[in-house]
Amino acid sequence: MTYPTVPPRHPPLRRWILGVSGGIAAYKACELTRLLVKAGAEVQVIMTQAATQFVTPLTFQSLSGRPVLSHIWEPRQDNGMDHIDLARWAEAILIAPASADFLARIAHGMADDLLTTLVAARSIPLYLAPAMNQAMWNNPANQRNVEQLTLDGAIFLGPGEGQQACGETGMGRLLEPSELLSLLSPLIGSKPLVDLRGKRIVLTAGPTVEAIDPVRTLTNISSGKMGYALAAAAVISGADVTLISGPTALSVPAGCHLIPVHSAAQMRDAVLSEIQDADLFFSVAAVADYTPESPSGHKIKKTGAPMTLTLVPTPDILATVAALPNPPFCVGFAAESQHLEEYAKRKRLAKNIPLIVGNLAQRALGRDDNEVTLFDANGSHPLSPASKEILAHQILAHAITLMNTQST
Ligand code: C5P
Repeated sequence: MTYPTVPPRHPPLRRWILGVSGGIAAYKACELTRLLVKAGAEVQVIMTQAATQFVTPLTFQSLSGRPVLSHIWEPRQDNGMDHIDLARWAEAILIAPASADFLARIAHGMADDLLTTLVAARSIPLYLAPAMNQAMWNNPANQRNVEQLTLDGAIFLGPGEGQQACGETGMGRLLEPSELLSLLSPLIGSKPLVDLRGKRIVLTAGPTVEAIDPVRTLTNISSGKMGYALAAAAVISGADVTLISGPTALSVPAGCHLIPVHSAAQMRDAVLSEIQDADLFFSVAAVADYTPESPSGHKIKKTGAPMTLTLVPTPDILATVAALPNPPFCVGFAAESQHLEEYAKRKRLAKNIPLIVGNLAQRALGRDDNEVTLFDANGSHPLSPASKEILAHQILAHAITLMNTQST
């Protein structure tokens, strides 16, 4: 499933209703409240009755600095707002976590408590961060509700894939508060860490998928998380961002222009048509090094005999961009399983690029955190282990500093 890109909003959306529906992931909404407030948002938390079974309203009140509302029949609150005033005050609604039951109720226009009433009466953007067991997420009724809500203009943030509170693994995990914040920051208009206004950035991310025949492919286990985190950090910093991505299970960071691709050849074509006026190019994708020489037009039948597949090298997109007459500032990535320093340094010189980000493949691929070392002409710069979101900002800041010193 793909989710729509959220364009950056001007002026920024500062006043948020954070709706918390019932589910164990409600505890993550506490950290999300803290992060939203820190990013400059005013947050009015509204809890469903079920949510109050998981976290106390007092916790949210302390974090948001506002009394929490949960009952439609409550008389005027001591913050001076009834639900009509509240609907007028808010500039956006975010429901996190959005349970399967909550999605079902709003998909059908039900308005039987304060939160569903506000959703039904809204004329402002609605963001939904679902959290539920993977079987419930995949349930056809839930998928119908998600489709209906998308058609009605709601914007889904996630869910993510991975280990769930119930012990199962699959789609349905609430995105981490830091992931939600990086998706929403451009809307809130939080202060950028580096100022990239006026800069155009092109990134590649994720794996590529090379066809063997109509039903079989060659690919790799890249999740796309590092590239998407960099795209989000670049948007937050004010850049005009184009993200050229192989297939991933990630939500597109708000405000960036996504070009979805499959094969290395498609990725190269998309990069070359976008790179002309780019200031920076981040080549984060795990591009296949080889592709089947002549993919079969029909499904290859098994014969029982051993089979040989002839592979030919793919174009090196990064080296191609770096060799352009007037190339953008190019940043490469090197995922190695051993001899990281030696291989990364060699790769930087071979591709003729100013900066390469080295990481150990077994430490990086598919994970939310990473440990990287930056290699440039001045030497190596190890960064402390951190989430990919945090590393993205540090990598961006290093690249900009280097770019500015080179151009002076
Ligand atoms: O040579 P190697 O594949 O290890 O280099 C990794 C770097 O080169 C990454 O930045 C990757 O995105 C880029 N690359 C590319 N095109 C390829 C292979 C790798 O742009 N065909």
